[in-house]
This record gives sequence, structure tokens and C-alpha cells, in this order.
Amino acid sequence: MKHRIDWVRQNCRLLAAIASEFDAEKPFAGRTIGTGIHLEPKTVALILTLQSGGARMVSTGNLNSTQPEAVDYLRDNGVTVIGGPTRDPDEHRGNLKAVLAERPDILLDNGGDLFDLYRQDRYPGLLGGTEETTSGRMRLAPMRDELALPILVINDSPIKQFAENEHGVGQSVLESYMRITNRVTNGQRVAVFGYGACGKGVAANFRAANAKVSVVDRDPLKRLQAHLDGHDTPPRETAIASADFIVTVTGGGRIIGPEDLPHFKDGVILANAGHFPVEIDAAALAASGDVAARTGYDVGVESLTLKDGRTIRVIAEGHMFNLAGPRPMGNSIETMDLGFALQARCLEAVALGKATADQCVVPVPRDIDERVANAYLDLHYG
Ligand SMILES: NC(=O)c1ccc[n+]([C@@H]2O[C@H](COP(=O)([O-])OP(=O)(O)OC[C@H]3O[C@@H](n4cnc5c(N)ncnc54)[C@H](O)[C@@H]3O)[C@@H](O)[C@H]2O)c1
Repeated sequence: MKHRIDWVRQNCRLLAAIASEFDAEKPFAGRTIGTGIHLEPKTVALILTLQSGGARMVSTGNLNSTQPEAVDYLRDNGVTVIGGPTRDPDEHRGNLKAVLAERPDILLDNGGDLFDLYRQDRYPGLLGGTEETTSGRMRLAPMRDELALPILVINDSPIKQFAENEHGVGQSVLESYMRITNRVTNGQRVAVFGYGACGKGVAANFRAANAKVSVVDRDPLKRLQAHLDGHDTPPRETAIASADFIVTVTGGGRIIGPEDLPHFKDGVILANAGHFPVEIDAAALAASGDVAARTGYDVGVESLTLKDGRTIRVIAEGHMFNLAGPRPMGNSIETMDLGFALQARCLEAVALGKATADQCVVPVPRDIDERVANAYLDLHYG
């Protein structure tokens, strides 16, 4: 195999089957689809599947997760890619605006960026689209009355929840921690902040790797669930003080910040797996007056030496570390194939007028979930 992206495309079996069908039926003929989603091998498979359906594709990435080989591959295959890898929010915003300047008929959004910008500067003819994440749903839900377009939220499909968020993110966070740090998990204390689908999978995977897991969630029901799943649920400060590794995956903001510096164990490693780089306030930690010295970010980990001699380590500057850290693999191909098959079917429904304006920021319709589940099992069992 010449290229890792070819390997990924070959193993996205659902998308490959949908691409063949789209190629014959052209559900997006004459349409432009604008995307603002991580540009990495699995999204390449999705974007090229949509292109098979007759769409003109205009794509940009998310902050700090764009992979140059994905950009090159897309460009070689006729996709208009705007911008490249960037950590600069203003540059990223400019790229998103450039996507919207192409007046897409349909948007594939990840984090609510494109729909929010569209809301601020509308143009005629937008049919609707999809939003991939929890974070995007939280951002777009209060804008329903203004948007008034079919927007199907992939994250709120049960398939996305258990396949990608629980199993995919759970395994990928463990894999990323080991790949980036090369540190042992056995006997280590891991504090997982957030016990939604992602946090549940992260906690389960670290326990399976012989770590001791503490769960912190602001929702008492989630704490009860974590307790019944066999994890410790100590108070927040206790969890922080005992942790060798702290991972945030809440979708919320400022979960860990400089106010936690007095509590950290010497050598603690901090990483964020939530969508936005706001859960660990890496900039404020580094700027704290308690910090005596900083090392560079070269191996994907920055060490902050505190004046009292303790060291704090932050992975990927608080960006979503399974996609923004060094040598990123992201979630397993099959779990992403399932979620992206939902994407392809939802975008098809929007293009064909089968989703209506009252379906604004709503979960994936049940018939699409069932179709994708059956297709996966049929492919698996032949
Ligand atoms: N890394 C990846 O590859 C990947 C993949 C999918 C989703 N995500 C992201 O992961 C995040 C979580 O997704 P999810 O589907 O599990 O969300 P979710 O809404 O199901 O769960 C989030 C949990 O965090 C808890 N929480 C929120 N704020 C908190 C706080 N301040 N302190 C403690 N707990 C808090 C909530 O009570 C909830 O139980 C989102 O940002 C999502 O976009 C990342």
C-alpha cells in the first residue's frame, strides 16, 4: 500500500459501499458541500465519498488537527482545500469564512463553527447540513430559531455514542497516551473528567490497562453510573491530588486551570480529549507565577517546573490530543466509518429534501441509524 490514506479508505467499508451507490445515483449533483472538519485520513474517505455523489467539495480543517498529507491527497483528488495546519484561531476563522464565501448549498460542520458564521452573515440557498459533535450541538441548539434549517446532529445518534465516542475515543485516548508518553499505565492513578460516552470509554480502557480510575463529573447521575461501573468517584480536589494522569473530556470550558496548581502530584500529566482546547487552560498554567521554568513542546509534551520543585506536564498544549498530538492516528477506522456513514446518509437526506426545517439541531433520524447498523453487520457477516 503506497499511502496510509489508501489503507484507511480500503477499511472504511461502509463509505466505500456508499461511494459506489452515490457514484451511480449522484444525490449531490450540482451541489456544493462546505466542510469544516479535521482533515485526516478518515475524513478524506468521507469527503471523497460525498464527491462521488456529484458534490463540489470545499473543505477546511479544524484548529491544530489538519494533516498535510490529507490536504495533499484531497487536492490531488480535485477537492478545494482552504488553508493548511494552523493553531491560530484568527487564521482558522478566515479559512472558515473562505469556505462560506463559496456559498455552499450544504454544510458539514464540526463544533458549530460554520453554522455560527453563516448565522452572522447569511446567503440565500443554504439547504442545511450536519453537525458532528456534542460541543457543536451545545453551541447551535440555542440558535435554532435563527438557523431554521435542517441540521442533523451526528453525535446524537446512539451509534455515534457507543461506537465512536465510547469505544473509539476510549481506545484512542489510551493509545495516544501510550504512544506520546511511552509511560506505563499499570498501577497508575488516572482521573477522568467527564463521564459522558467518551469519558466512559476512556475510563474503561484505562482500567483494562490496569490503571486505577477516578471519575469526576458535575452530574450526580453520571457519578453514580461511574460508581456502579466500578470506578472511584472522589471529590474533585482529591481526584486531582492523587492523579498521575488527568484527562478532560467534558465538552465544557476551563475544567483544569492554574487554581489547581497547589493540588497536583509531582510529575502529573495533563491531557484534553474534548473538542475545544479550552478544558485545560494550558496558556494560563504556563503563565502562572508559580512556574519557574518551561521546556519546549518538541515531543508533544511541555514540562512546567514549579517554584516548589514539582513538575507538571501538558500534552499537545491542551488541544484534543488523540488528533493534535504527535503522529496522530485518531479513533479506529471502523468506528469512524460508522459515524461517517451516518454523515453521508444525513447529508444525502438534506440534499434530497428528506430532512425538513423543523429538524433543526436534532438527532439522526432512526431510519438512517437502522440502515447504517444493518449495513455494518451485513458487511461483517458477509
Ligand atoms: N477526542 C475525540 O476524538 C472526540 C471524539 C468525539 C467527541 N469528542 C469530544 O469529547 C467531549 C465529550 O463528549 P461526550 O460525547 O462524552 O459528551 P457528553 O455530553 O456525553 O459528556 C460530557 C460529560 O462531561 C460532564 N461535564 C461537563 N462539564 C463538566 C465539568 N465542568 N466538570 C465535570 N464534568 C463535567 C457532563 O456532566 C457529562 O457527563 C466533547 O467535547 C466532544 O466533542 C472528542
